[in-house]
Amino acid sequence: MTARPVLRPLCAADLPDVLAIQRAAYGDGYQESAAVLGRKLELAPQACWLAQADGAAVGYVFAHPWDDADAPPLHAPLRALPARAGHGFVHDLAVVPAARGLGVAAALFGRVRDWSAAAGHRGLRLVALADAVPFWARQGFAALPAVLPAGYGEDACLMERALRD
Ligand SMILES: CC(C)(COP(=O)(O)OP(=O)(O)OC[C@H]1O[C@@H](n2cnc3c(N)ncnc32)[C@H](O)[C@@H]1OP(=O)(O)O)[C@@H](O)C(=O)NCCC(=O)NCCS
Repeated sequence: MTARPVLRPLCAADLPDVLAIQRAAYGDGYQESAAVLGRKLELAPQACWLAQADGAAVGYVFAHPWDDADAPPLHAPLRALPARAGHGFVHDLAVVPAARGLGVAAALFGRVRDWSAAAGHRGLRLVALADAVPFWARQGFAALPAVLPAGYGEDACLMERALRD
């Protein structure tokens, strides 16, 4: 990769690229459908971003407003956003192996952080897979005790970071 990655808002036409990044990042064991991801994009387009380098998609982030419940179910399209959203929820962030270590994930997360702060949320939450806990801790998140919906996996961990005092 030669060019510096650039970020732009995600659109529905990007979903095939998103699925390819998802497969490169997680392998075949964890795949969410275009329907589930597309519904999140439909509900919160301002919270979903794509990173591109040399004309190719190399990373994405999906986020949406969320209430004080622990986490939304996995592999099921969100029916609606909560009427009162106290948090932003980072649903997924992934970068292809060839573009890692260049700050792509930090830049994508920065867009979500800015969106959530501008929306007036108290903080951001996410469910980290075990391998990603140190990365999210680096972005200011700390673990919260929680009972997560089935599907996240035994080692998954609810994490939160504040956006204002
Ligand atoms: C985790 C992931 C998103 C990081 O992407 P990346 O573009 O390489 O990360 P960045 O280059 O932006 O790194 C930002 C910071 O996090 C650190 N970091 C990156 N990956 C890390 C990891 N696995 N563990 C701990 N720290 C990590 C970097 O050193 C950097 O630190 P700095 O601020 O001191 O420079 C990427 O490895 C990935 O897609 N993994 C598979 C999918 C995944 O687990 N996503 C998280 C979902 S819960």
